[in-house]
Amino acid sequence: MSKHIYLVGGSKGGVGKSMVTMALIDYLECSGESVVLIETDTSNPDVYKTYGSETKGQLVNLEEADGWIKLINVCGDADNKDSVIVINTRAANNQGVQKYGETLNDTLEELGRKLVALWVINRQRDSLELLKDFQEAMPNAMVHVIRNGYFGDESKYQLYNGSKIRTSVEKSGGKSLSFPDMADLLADDIYTKRLTIAKASADLPIGNRAELKRWKALVSVMFDEVVNDNQTK
Ligand SMILES: Nc1ncnc2c1ncn2[C@@H]1O[C@H](COP(=O)(O)OP(=O)(O)OP(=O)(O)O)[C@@H](O)[C@H]1O
Ligand SMILES: [Mg+2]
Repeated sequence: MSKHIYLVGGSKGGVGKSMVTMALIDYLECSGESVVLIETDTSNPDVYKTYGSETKGQLVNLEEADGWIKLINVCGDADNKDSVIVINTRAANNQGVQKYGETLNDTLEELGRKLVALWVINRQRDSLELLKDFQEAMPNAMVHVIRNGYFGDESKYQLYNGSKIRTSVEKSGGKSLSFPDMADLLADDIYTKRLTIAKASADLPIGNRAELKRWKALVSVMFDEVVNDNQTK
């Protein structure tokens, strides 16, 4: 089995998709993996702008059939055989997934890659409804749900925690995870200066770096649960 495809989804705006994508790239690269980033947020390609010069990457529009062809070709390219594919999705990505998602869903077997969706949610109901739509469009994806701690800790996610969708995710082997909240001062620095996590870990003042180290340790604990052993170390 080749390296996985990780799709960071959520479909809602501002839930933390880009932040989870950056954390995942950093986690994989720190574990010695080679990563190919697929940035699908063509209107605000923030992860690509930050990581594009250091991590191999490509901009792809998943609102169009052409974009899905490009995505699948990147996944199947012999040069990328040993790389993990990380897809950062845009808000309202569900429309493209609904229309064309089956092209990827149906080629996974031939690609020999597993599709793992990391579904980022906030505390509102529509996050869960959008997840249902995604599961229907991509039945071959393994789905894990990420409660973003930025919107409150795990116990505040009552709607998700007691939901049927949680039961169905976990029945299929998916996990319910919690993504750590990062201090605003540091998050603002990383966003406005477009710093990779690695660069921020090296260059920022000592206080910011200490907070980043704390956050990274929690991020590692979270990803250790779902990122397959053969995709790390
Ligand atoms: N875990 C977190 N800790 C600290 N800040 C966070 C966290 N998650 C999100 N944020 C803040 O929320 C804002 C939105 O996050 P992000 O850009 O990752 O969301 P998104 O889902 O990618 O948004 P979009 O739909 O616009 O692409 C960021 O500016 C970031 O500062
Ligand atoms: Mg984003």
